[in-house]
Order: sequence, then structure tokens, then C-alpha cells
Amino acid sequence: MTEGPKHLIDWKFWDDGEIREVLALARRVKRQRWEFQGHMQGRTLVMIFQKTSTRTRVSFEAGMTELGGHAVNLDWMSTNFTLSDIRSETRYLSRNSAVIMARLKSHADLLDMVAGATVPVINGCCNLYHPCQALADVLTIAEDRSGDPGGVRLTYVGAYNNVVNSLVSISAALGVELTLVCPIRDEAVVDEESRGRLLGLGLLTETLDAKAAVAKADYVYTDTWIDMEYFNDAAYAEEKERRCELMLPYQVNTELLAGSNARVMHDMPMHLGYEITEEVAEGERSIIYDQAENRLDAQKAILLTLV
Ligand code: CP
Repeated sequence: MTEGPKHLIDWKFWDDGEIREVLALARRVKRQRWEFQGHMQGRTLVMIFQKTSTRTRVSFEAGMTELGGHAVNLDWMSTNFTLSDIRSETRYLSRNSAVIMARLKSHADLLDMVAGATVPVINGCCNLYHPCQALADVLTIAEDRSGDPGGVRLTYVGAYNNVVNSLVSISAALGVELTLVCPIRDEAVVDEESRGRLLGLGLLTETLDAKAAVAKADYVYTDTWIDMEYFNDAAYAEEKERRCELMLPYQVNTELLAGSNARVMHDMPMHLGYEITEEVAEGERSIIYDQAENRLDAQKAILLTLV
């Protein structure tokens, strides 16, 4: 039986050693950017989006350009994925590309795509995972510390979402001490397997005491309280209001950060005045733009590893 290509669905499906290697490669790719020029020459990445994006779109395309390859951008609604089935359309895409990056709403659809693919598929953020973001996050911490992210105390304050699931799985692989302050917690979203692993390693703390969790943190991380596809959805307005009311006491602001030396992280896009204030996001402890910039090198390392 022939083995299929390797995919990136979430870090939980990769060995710890492989994750360490891809992080080391991302650091090298960033330090020695020109060494990797041409490594994707003649290769095409197909990107397909069911949801909006700024960073994922730009950083994957820029990454392919810098590596000497090419990226094709597809808006799901303008493709025949809307008329046909995911597997056969993906089987075709695999014939004309070296790698696929998909941002799909549903994890089940992503798995369907993987089933039809004969080239690697990279999850560009589904409802359950955001692995590209998590690698950029640990790359940012590694750079900030000039070393291994192992032993770092990272506190996440926000809704338990896809970003959290991937942070949990990459933390387990790298030995990051993760504290979660998640007043919103939809059990259908929580990856209990990854959570259980991190708990078993003694690396996970869960609390609603944001002040105490921030006081002991090296890094404080927040994210939107509302998933991107619902943010401007009128039908979701009531739930949005409920979430904002519940989460406002957990806003990352100067008051919450008082007495802490933690750096501040956010995966962007930010909703200033909601999960984070502009003062903090643009302040001197913010490493948010380094984090966003690092999507480029993290994803180059993923592409170079998979293709
Ligand atoms: N963080 C992130 O994935 O950004 P985009 O949604 O803009 O791609």
C-alpha cells in the first residue's frame, strides 16, 4: 500500500520531534531568508478560502513568491466546489498543484478535502484548529526569548476556540506552561484529547481569575470573542452582545496588566475596545505585529517541510 502525503490538520497529529524541527526551520528561514530562495521554484500552492483573511492570504502568497514558487488564490464561492463534491474537486486540484492551503468553515469538510487530496493539505484555520497561527506564536516567543519556548508561562484570556486548541497541542509538544482563562467554552469546540495530554503533562492550568493568571505570565494572549464569520452577521447580533457583556471584564487592558511584566500577543484581526484596548495593542509591551509578521516564516517552514 502506498502512503499518502503528509498534511497539517493540527499539530496534535505530528510528533513532538517533527514540531521542534519545523520550529527550528522557521527560525533558520527567517534568519537566513535568502538561503531558501528558489526552493519552491516551479511549484504551485492553491489557496482556497471560505472565510475572510488578511494575514493567511498575504503571508502564504508572499511566502511562495519569496521561495520562488507561485500561489493561486481561490474564493470558494467563485469555484465549482459550490456545485460539486469536495473530494473530486480536490482530486483535480492535486493534479495541478504541489500543495493546497484551505480555510474552510467546517473541520469535517477539511477532512473531506484531505481524503480527496494526493498532495499535502495545510489547514489555514477551520472551526477547530489554527495550526499555522500556533507555529507563528511559538516562533515569536522563541525569538523574543532568544531560545526555546519550553518553560514559558503563557496565559490566554478569551473564548476557548480554534486558536486555543492549536495552542494547547503545540504547548504539549514544546513544554509551554499554558494557563487558560476562558469564560466562554463551547464543549463542541474543545479538543479534549489535546487538553487531556497537556493536563497530564502538568502544563495546563484553567482558571477564571484573570488577574492572578496575568500576574504570573511571561506572555498574555487574547483573541476575538466572536468567530470571524459571525462578527458582522445580523442574525448573530444577540449572541454577540451576550458574549461582549460576559467577556468585557476580561478585556486585556492596562488595569488587567498592572503589576505584570508580560508581553502581549494577539493573532489579529483585533477588535479594539473589545478583547484588547488600543493603548495595550499599540503599547511597548505588545509583540502583536512581530507575531503577525512571523506567519510568513512559520508557513515557509511548513511548506518546505511538506512539499
Ligand atoms: N490570524 C489570522 O489568521 O489572520 P487572518 O484571518 O487575517 O488570515
